[in-house]
Amino acid sequence: MLRFLPLLLVLGLALIGCVSSHEESGEWSCESDSEIRVEAEYRPGFITLDGNADDWKDIEASEFSLLPALDPHVEHEYQGGKMNVKALHDGHDVYFLLQVDGEYVYSKGENNKCPSVALMFQIGEDATYHNMGGCKERTDSCTSKTCKGHEVDIMHFSIGNAIPGRLYGGNPIDNGEGNGGDRFGHLVDVYAWNPHCRYLDGLGPSGNDSSAQNDWKGAWWHSSFNVHSGFVDEDSPYASGGQKGTYYFEFSRPLRTMDHIQQDAQFKIGESSKMSVAFWYPADGKPWHGSGHYSINCDWVPLDISLDSSMLTKSSPGSSGSTASVFALLLSAISLCVSVFVGYRVLKPKSVPFTPMENL
Ligand SMILES: *[C@@H]1O[C@H](CO)[C@@H](O)[C@H](O)[C@H]1NC(C)=O
Repeated sequence: MLRFLPLLLVLGLALIGCVSSHEESGEWSCESDSEIRVEAEYRPGFITLDGNADDWKDIEASEFSLLPALDPHVEHEYQGGKMNVKALHDGHDVYFLLQVDGEYVYSKGENNKCPSVALMFQIGEDATYHNMGGCKERTDSCTSKTCKGHEVDIMHFSIGNAIPGRLYGGNPIDNGEGNGGDRFGHLVDVYAWNPHCRYLDGLGPSGNDSSAQNDWKGAWWHSSFNVHSGFVDEDSPYASGGQKGTYYFEFSRPLRTMDHIQQDAQFKIGESSKMSVAFWYPADGKPWHGSGHYSINCDWVPLDISLDSSMLTKSSPGSSGSTASVFALLLSAISLCVSVFVGYRVLKPKSVPFTPMENL
């Protein structure tokens, strides 16, 4: 073994050399930790979709550093803290909680001067995390045909017009028009093939499809707020700026949607999907721009939609289960024999002589 050590060292150095030269060339590189994942356990009747995170306290979080999405280097990490991502499902809907520390900033009506979040999911098998699906076509040539297989599903929530604790997303008016928009709170349902070919569900370069819907709902909150019966628009900015605290963003969506044009990710219980989370923050009061966001990872993060684990523990010890039923069968056979025997003894005709009625 010792003899091979120098060889291994040389090989190792060569590999390191390759990696660093790759980075220097300015090409995209990502070393994703294979351990990371988000687990959506089955916990029915647990979550109220109101932006308040108290009901999530027993749910385990996955913690992520927030690095710039386009240039993921540790020295440019979001200074406010890590992002905690929690998820669960109730058999019908999947729920997400994003929790990130940040001083309170809010500019009513100015989305870019408020924090903002997005979720992204893989739809098409060829859709890469990098470049939002990674279709090579340009704005004037991307279509559902030329970019087939590169579809990603995006939910984007910009809170400049969203009252904390109130529900936004899919609403009867925008869904009535058959698209993924949200004119009230800008919690929109979007699909993309790459960053330049990004559309509201139902709208697109090859025509509109009025069957599309905004399938998301969500709410936001900041820990500096005083909880009371409910904010209204006039309460804006809801708290004084600059207070330390935590932002909460809470979302839900049906596991399956009625999409039939490949614009929504579809989740399956017991299977894994691929997701990512983006975060925008107006650092030093400067408005953010679209590509200036942080991301939880430089590649997809697996999202496991778990089976009901209580059902699993009941059915998994299959062999001992069948032993028990064989034993029960044996017991019932024995008791049948015993009861036949007892019955026979009780009912056995005794040798009482026959006495005809007329002789009495
Ligand atoms: C699709 O819908 C958008 C927004 O409502 C509209 O501007 C556009 O003209 C529509 N396109 C077609 C081809 O109907």
